[in-house]
Amino acid sequence: MMGPLATLFFLLLFSGTTVLGHGHHKPRKQCDSLVYQDVVRSEPTPLFTNTASFNGKLIYQYDSDSERAVPEPGWDNVENWTQTSQIQKQRGDFAVENLQEIMNVKQDTSGSHVLSGSYGCRLCQNDDTEGFWSYDYDGKPFIEFDKEKPAWIPKDPEAVIIKQKWEEDPGAVYRAKSYLEETCIEELKKYRDYKKAN
Ligand SMILES: *[C@@H]1O[C@H](CO)[C@@H](O)[C@H](O)[C@H]1NC(C)=O
Repeated sequence: MMGPLATLFFLLLFSGTTVLGHGHHKPRKQCDSLVYQDVVRSEPTPLFTNTASFNGKLIYQYDSDSERAVPEPGWDNVENWTQTSQIQKQRGDFAVENLQEIMNVKQDTSGSHVLSGSYGCRLCQNDDTEGFWSYDYDGKPFIEFDKEKPAWIPKDPEAVIIKQKWEEDPGAVYRAKSYLEETCIEELKKYRDYKKAN
């Protein structure tokens, strides 16, 4: 038989915060999340889309046809949307180039191909943070950022070319790391505070 202290220790060890009476179905950590999604497809014409979501709810959508980032209701003044549109236009041009390069390396020159990316961060109640950044090509893991190294980790043989390109400038991985650890968290707090006030 376990004594009360041993039982408490056991519960703390194996059940996270659920021991504090939150029940079994609550997540262990209460976190806010900011997740961006990129999709670039090659045909019929190259199209790039980017979205941002706070706690799973859409903030805005950008697409390269309109070249406009359009906020969802309730997020109207959280950004300068002209500026967001300009940034996403540049990112989109770069993403189209990357997709072309991957298709060339893979000799996938016909048919429609898709590069989709997901990046963002989480901020939890205990001030723990997480950051992530990865790309899939035609639905399969392609390359993933390891922010502790920091480095791009190929998940596919042809991703080595892209890794070399993205790491050509030795400062780039440090900028990606600081983007995830600092900029993204600042943006997340901005969206969180805006949401509370609006
Ligand atoms: C929004 O950004 C654009 C482009 O960077 C800039 O020209 C404009 O002055 C900004 N608008 C405001 C209200 O700050």
